[in-house]
Order: sequence, then structure tokens, then C-alpha cells
Amino acid sequence: MGMTIDELLKTSYWVIDILPAQVPKDGPGQYFAVEKYFLDEKRLAAIKEKHINLVLKLNCYRKISIDGGESNPAPELVAAEMRKRYLHITVDESMILSEPDDANLTIFNPDAELLDLVREIAAGEGLYVWKPPFDGKEVDKVSLVTFSPTGSSMAVGRRIADAMAELLSPKAPGPAAGAEQAEPGAAADLHADAALQAELYPVVDLCGQNTEASYGPETVCVFSVPCYGGRIPRTAAERLSGVRGNSTPAVVCVTYGNRAYEDALLELADLVEKNGFTVIAGCAAVAEHNIMHVFGKGRPDKQDKAQIVQFAAETALKIKKGNAGLLRPLPGNRPYKEWGGSSLPIEVDQTMCTNCGVCAKECPVGAILTPGWKTDENACINCMRCVKNCPAECRHVPKERLRAMTEQLRAACDSRKENAFFG
Ligand SMILES: Cc1cc2nc3c(=O)[nH]c(=O)nc-3n(C[C@H](O)[C@H](O)[C@H](O)COP(=O)(O)O)c2cc1C
Ligand code: SF4
Ligand code: SF4
Repeated sequence: MGMTIDELLKTSYWVIDILPAQVPKDGPGQYFAVEKYFLDEKRLAAIKEKHINLVLKLNCYRKISIDGGESNPAPELVAAEMRKRYLHITVDESMILSEPDDANLTIFNPDAELLDLVREIAAGEGLYVWKPPFDGKEVDKVSLVTFSPTGSSMAVGRRIADAMAELLSPKAPGPAAGAEQAEPGAAADLHADAALQAELYPVVDLCGQNTEASYGPETVCVFSVPCYGGRIPRTAAERLSGVRGNSTPAVVCVTYGNRAYEDALLELADLVEKNGFTVIAGCAAVAEHNIMHVFGKGRPDKQDKAQIVQFAAETALKIKKGNAGLLRPLPGNRPYKEWGGSSLPIEVDQTMCTNCGVCAKECPVGAILTPGWKTDENACINCMRCVKNCPAECRHVPKERLRAMTEQLRAACDSRKENAFFG
């Protein structure tokens, strides 16, 4: 097993319960009296048998072990142990917590397939699986953390942060006078100016120098990074370790160039959760491919932008109501897809170069050598920032290479992909 029990206890969890959802504090019913009734010794023993049935039925499909012991212990042993003591039952990278005196089980870090299976078996046992909502009623600040060499992830992240700040942060300007019916996010375009943005909410640019930050539970942090080969860029992953949360809600977003985002969103969510954040929502947004611009051309378009703003506004409203949270695990697999690295040469047409130095100044990994502004191919992550930002347009991927790559990926990238939202 990859994760320790302590690490698993900090991951997202779901409750397997006799009730279908968390009972509201101010509800008209009598939760405590009913709970007491079910916790009567005989009734609790009957519920525990349902828990045992669930774990054993699950064990027909997935490998389990108890407290890190050997795999697939005898069913009689599992049942006896579940009746008498507190147990950590590991199921691959997930864990079920079972207590003899509890009417519910808790499952930490389930993959999507496992959660579906648990839901199905639980339903057969007359049990329910629900996600505790994130009680973030005190959230009144927004922050954006982004790694965005060519700007798409920054733009999408800003759109989300703008719409959320508009609803959550008292500093953000409300709808203009006479425009009470304005859509959430309508102020987004007013916020285009970077100085104004910085006042509304802080932006941590992981391509820049200051990449460390920490947040408490009063801030919702929007993370937005691109997908590289189905993963998040390794530089972004490294720098994210300097961004720390403390029960801080997080919205994770990856942009991708109309091929696929595979394990990138899950990897981003896992990383930020490891750093003290609680992921409450996520999205994968299509953007123009920054190497092969024919793919995802013009994305995000008007429809994408409206969807992104709606997602952000809905997430902010859920935070305000204290019921934000992921209802399903994010898509992707663990272990993540292997990332073979990218090895595109970035060439410089010396005849056009004006020696302005912009490329070297802006390269997020310091991969541009002087004199000559050549690319250090060992350090370059192929992020395309220097190609995009060279004022003389003299940096490029060799045409033949680009053409061959475009043809190779055409079948996978040609048809329109849709954004995906989770929350
Ligand atoms: C090295 C590299 C790898 C990429 N891999 C993928 C990929 O696996 N799937 C995809 O759809 N787009 C891929 N893209 C396209 C980017 O994900 C997309 O253009 C993204 O929006 C760029 O973000 P940025 O503008 O914030 O830098 C890749 C781009 C680069 C530079
Ligand atoms: S940004 Fe372009 S023009 Fe400026 S130094 Fe680099 S290669 Fe030359
Ligand atoms: S040299 Fe490589 S890593 Fe640096 S900006 Fe250019 S493409 Fe990105």
C-alpha cells in the first residue's frame, strides 16, 4: 500500500450510514432520540452485521487487509474482528474505518469504481453512502494559485476566482447600479486589469519567483494548471509543495488542449489535499492547444466561459450554504499515467532575434542559455512560453516536427471535447 494510515485519514472520505444524508442541526426531527434507539445493543449488532456483509461482499471484488496485515483474511476472522474492535480495513489505496460501537463506517480515498461498488452493495444492505458537506460558511476570501506558461490556465483560473470573489468576498464589487439581475461573474470582464485583480484576491504565479503561500479556513483557493501528457507539469507539482492550507477549501482546475486530461485533475487534487486543502470542486476546461494550435482553436469560447462562470458561482453558493463538497471522486487513475517527458526542440532564428532577453527572463525553469538564447534541452519543459512571448516571433518548434505531431494526434484531438465539472 502506498499511503500510510495517517495519510489516508487526511484524504476525502464518505460515510456509509443507516441515514441517507447528514441531519441538519436545526431540523424539526429528533435525531438524538432516534440515534439512541438505533444504538441499543441488539439493533447496533444488527447494523454491524450489515457492515460485515458489505466488507465481505466487497472482498469478492477487491483485495482487503486489516490493519496492514496479510491480504484477504478469512471471512470469519474479518467478521469477528469487526464485531469486537476498531479496525482499519485497507482496500488498495483506500481505507474503511470500522468501530464496533458506531452505526456507520467511513471510507477514505475511494477510487470512482470502488465508490460505485460500495454504493451498490450498501443499497442492497439498506445502507446509504454520503459525502459530508464542507462547512465553509466563514469563507470570505479567494486566492488563485496558477502555473500557466502560456496563459490559458491563468485565464480560466481568473474567471473562476472572479466569479467566486464576486459572491464571497465583501471587497469584490457587486453588480453595477441598475444591474441587479446581472449574472454571477458579470464583473469578470471589469476585472481584466491585473492591478485590480491583485486587489480583489492574491494571485500566486508558480511560473514566477514568489511561489510560497499559506492559507487558513477563511480562504477558498482556486488552483489552475495545464495538463501535460495526462499529468500536471512536474514543475507545477514541485512548486505546489510550497503552497500550504489549513482546512482550506480548494477548487482544482486543469486546462487541456482538446485531447484528454487523463490523470491530471486527480493528481492536482491529491497534491493539494496532501498540503492541507480540502478539494470541494474541480473542473477540466478545454483550451487551445499551445503547441498544436489547430486543436481546441478559440477555446474557451463563449459557451465554455459561461459554463465556467456558472460552475464557479454554484460552488461559491454551496460554500455560503455550508454544503460544498465533491459528490463523486474525481476521474483518473492511481498510480498516475507515466509521463515520458517532452523532447521537442525549441529553435531560435538568430537572424530575427533582437537580443531583448524576454525569453530568458520569462522561462519558468531558466532553460534559456546566454549568449545566443539557445534552449537547454535538458532543462526545457516544452511549456511554449518563450515561443508565444518572443516579441520577434523567432522561437519555434521545427515545422516538420510540428506537422508530424499534429497528424499523429489528429484523430484524438480533432473532435470537440466538452468541459467537465465536479462538485
Ligand atoms: C508539454 C505539453 C504537453 C501537453 N499535453 C497535453 C495533453 O496531454 N492533453 C491535452 O489535451 N493537451 C495537452 N497540452 C496542451 C495544454 O494542456 C493546453 O494548451 C493548456 O491550456 C496550456 O496551458 P497554459 O496556457 O496555462 O500554459 C500539452 C501542452 C504542452 C506544452
Ligand atoms: S525573446 Fe526572442 S528576440 Fe528576445 S532574446 Fe529571446 S529569442 Fe531573441
Ligand atoms: S525554453 Fe522551454 S521551458 Fe523555457 S520558456 Fe521556452 S519552452 Fe518553456
